[in-house]
Amino acid sequence: METFRSKASLLLTLILLLTTCLSIIEAQQCHPSGKIRGKKPSSGHCTTENDADCCIQGKLYTTYKCSPPVSSHTKAYLTLNSFEAGGDGIPPSKCDNKHHSDDTPVVALSTGWLKNKSRCLNNITISANKRSVVAMVVDECDSTMGCDSDHDYHPPCANNIVVASKTVWKALGIPLSQWGGLDVTWTDV
Ligand SMILES: *[C@@H]1O[C@H](CO)[C@@H](O)[C@H](O)[C@H]1NC(C)=O
Ligand SMILES: *[C@@H]1O[C@H](CO)[C@@H](O)[C@H](O)[C@H]1NC(C)=O
Repeated sequence: METFRSKASLLLTLILLLTTCLSIIEAQQCHPSGKIRGKKPSSGHCTTENDADCCIQGKLYTTYKCSPPVSSHTKAYLTLNSFEAGGDGIPPSKCDNKHHSDDTPVVALSTGWLKNKSRCLNNITISANKRSVVAMVVDECDSTMGCDSDHDYHPPCANNIVVASKTVWKALGIPLSQWGGLDVTWTDV
């Protein structure tokens, strides 16, 4: 009887420990904040340059206010965009309300990683292809909103995106034919 009781209490302790661990892990996870239903872009909207996809009418898109935790090798998906004042109506970067030359290493981060703009104008190191490049954070890739005229009818950003100027892609030594989407890691400088 005694051994049964001690075994039972050991088991109970283990279960308690396990649930505590799981709830700590759970707290670090980033869960969706909502969903947006795609609207049909009015004609002349949604630029498709650089494979940027346009919202599909009726499709549900997930939104996030958070991003995965940042570590010394935060996993992210690198995409390509221009930060220049071109003919295609790219708005000025949110961090400084300015455009940036694509000949400089600049990036936009998913909303959670921009951390309410506290990462603005900080530098991050992006690594891939056995190379690294330091880039300045100048803009947000909005994970909380999308599919409206303010976002040019683009879907909300995923929560793990680093949008980079072409200089970043060049510095990582990625062949031009493969520019646009790449698994990378990044960390704060
Ligand atoms: C973000 O920053 C603004 C201005 O500093 C502040 O008013 C707001 O409460 C902050 N939001 C969060 C979620 O921290
Ligand atoms: C980031 O790097 C740029 C270019 O080297 C530099 O001008 C800037 O001061 C750096 N920003 C910070 C916050 O260190």
